[in-house]
Amino acid sequence: MDDLRNYVKERYARAIKNNTSCCGSGGCCCGTTGASDILSMTRGNYDGTVLEKTPPQMADQSFGCGNPFTEADIHPGETVLDLGSGAGLDLFLASEATGPSGKVIGLDMTDEMLETAAENLRGLDNVTLVKGYIEEMPLESGTVDVIISNCVINLSPDKGKVLKEAFRVLRPGGRFCVSDTVFLRPVTERAVKNLAAWSGCIAGALQETEYADLLKEAGFIEIEVRRTKVYDVPDALAAMAFPELSAEERKEINGALASAIIQGRKPLVKPKEGRDYMIRRAEAADVSAIAALLEENGLTSLGVAEAPENFLVLEHSGIAAVAGMEIQGDAGLLRSLAVRRKDRKKGFGERMTSAVIDRARSQGVRIVYLLTETAEKFFERAGFTDARREDIPAPLMQSSALDMVCPQGSTVMKKILLQEEC
Ligand SMILES: C[S@@+](CC[C@H](N)C(=O)[O-])C[C@H]1O[C@@H](n2cnc3c(N)ncnc32)[C@H](O)[C@@H]1O
Repeated sequence: MDDLRNYVKERYARAIKNNTSCCGSGGCCCGTTGASDILSMTRGNYDGTVLEKTPPQMADQSFGCGNPFTEADIHPGETVLDLGSGAGLDLFLASEATGPSGKVIGLDMTDEMLETAAENLRGLDNVTLVKGYIEEMPLESGTVDVIISNCVINLSPDKGKVLKEAFRVLRPGGRFCVSDTVFLRPVTERAVKNLAAWSGCIAGALQETEYADLLKEAGFIEIEVRRTKVYDVPDALAAMAFPELSAEERKEINGALASAIIQGRKPLVKPKEGRDYMIRRAEAADVSAIAALLEENGLTSLGVAEAPENFLVLEHSGIAAVAGMEIQGDAGLLRSLAVRRKDRKKGFGERMTSAVIDRARSQGVRIVYLLTETAEKFFERAGFTDARREDIPAPLMQSSALDMVCPQGSTVMKKILLQEEC
């Protein structure tokens, strides 16, 4: 394994030092300079307006074969890891996407690449460069939200190990979204060798199905391999590029290789109440955290500071969810159900709905109303049915102040509560 990695290391060190692509000269992914348009892997992967934001030299120092950002859907505050981050173009873009509250880690084994990246990214405080191998990531388990990578995993002598490591460092629910080269059909060893001589990026490419199988073996779900660019090599060009190959072999190469976006997700482990989280009544000290959570979810925090006791909070490394209930007589108005973005899909929304309803029932509530603009289906599953705005007792609407903030077009729903038998 070390021989191969040292070979790749030398090639990339030379390429970045000379600031040239090594396309056609053997050893690393085809850059824009020196490669023909048809075989160029790096050209045209990023929108010109995106590249305008980056230091001018960075696009030419990119050895990627696609654009992982088309699918990565990075949100502010997330931790992003770039495998084989090279001179740092994708780190630069990730730094902007994740913002000052997020964190971006670039992992690469080549000193010269890391040095160039450090210069290119000077002043970006949320980026950390780490020297190491993608087969043995020097990172803690369960700490990364999104893994990106651009034309690197194909270079690894042990791709299965890379994908297992990726799975380990991702937090439950974390996303894997990389750009890489893949073979679309089996090709002969001679053809692979010739392609490798043209560009080291191709040499170790997996077939689409092999990639998906290795991801599955590592534990990923929601796996997708989507072709983004198929490399058609017209015979005249192939004859120039691969003089050793026969016409038959050249035909074999044509259209056998593609760039692809490869995605997967680490499954969520449902947290257990009492062990992983707890639900409790909100206190005055929680008001600002509740307001921030409501704001993140586009909901009003009117009335929270005045009566925090109307709210329940779910604690899971800070406040991960909130729900409130305004009560007048035997009617309740469920409001402010919100779950922190990174804690979605853990069942917290359902758990907070039932907790706030159980509490209302114990306070004598017989019917619960709510207004929603986006979550009708969610509340239908929780047993709510359609109602009319005028059904909600006026004092309840007024006391909650929701009358002022909920648009007339909001959906009104109700749930009749069965009282507990004595
Ligand atoms: C094709 S370049 C891509 C660089 C960058 N992702 C980009 O888009 O420009 C491959 C990069 O991966 C790094 N690399 C290759 N194999 C690696 C490994 N096994 N462990 C860590 N880094 C590796 C190389 O040093 C190089 O910087």
